[in-house]
Amino acid sequence: MRPFLFVLFAQLRHNPPSMSATKSSSRIGTTAILARKGGEPVTVLTAYTAPMAQLLDGKVDALLVGDSLGMVLYGLDSTLAVTLDMMVAHGRAVVKASARSCVIIDMPFGSYQESPEQAFRNCAHVLAQTGAQGVKLEGGKEMAETIRFITERGIPVMGHVGLMPQHVQRMGGYKVQGREASAGKAIMADAQAVADAGAFSMVIEGVVEKLAREITEKVAIPTIGIGASSACDGQVLVTEDMLGLTPRAPKFVKQYAAIGEAIAEAVDKYAADVKARKFPSEEQTYK
Ligand code: KIV
Repeated sequence: MRPFLFVLFAQLRHNPPSMSATKSSSRIGTTAILARKGGEPVTVLTAYTAPMAQLLDGKVDALLVGDSLGMVLYGLDSTLAVTLDMMVAHGRAVVKASARSCVIIDMPFGSYQESPEQAFRNCAHVLAQTGAQGVKLEGGKEMAETIRFITERGIPVMGHVGLMPQHVQRMGGYKVQGREASAGKAIMADAQAVADAGAFSMVIEGVVEKLAREITEKVAIPTIGIGASSACDGQVLVTEDMLGLTPRAPKFVKQYAAIGEAIAEAVDKYAADVKARKFPSEEQTYK
């Protein structure tokens, strides 16, 4: 075989066209997110489904397949009952429907806290089954050993400190964290431990501005705030909250649209049209 053809065939075998070269090469990776520390703010929104991922892709730096889907999509009371299978199914849909934003998948409660080995096994399963760029897991000092173990073995990790929804029972509800000096010190130590363990970024949720600023100044990785002020290196929101699709959004949410109201109005019009035999009209009818 001519050397040129041999090289071409070898390249095709190792990079088959179905892998969509443009798709993977133009996607933001976790190292690009890490490099944004102290620079242009990192934009993150949640996405749980293919249609939402398609709408958001490329407009924000990262799509978070958050375990908040348990409450937002499935109507659960907390995130505790979310399973690994649910995260894989939604993660796969989001990765498939996007090509540019970095996709991060939340590890559900009970899938990583037992041991570094359990965490590696389940994180590797999630990345292999979805094609996502990284995983997110909650916890501070107590999770540092696990974060180090799995990042050293190739799993990019986004940490999550402050208000941790998977700790809702222990925290006694969804309350702002770190108001007292001692609690603030503990969260600072958590953030430092997560950064030192090798996470590429971390979510800081539900903490007072002063603490968010101190953490952001101290750690070497981007902090992504939710209910944690503008002092962070980036922001994340639950998309349904900022679009006005959830009945009651928390104080820290800015509502950028009233899609829930628009849906209700459209459905009222549809029902009225059907009852009045105005829909379908001639225009929507096959002759
Ligand atoms: O589950 C989620 O959506 C999250 C974000 C709110 C940070 O963890």
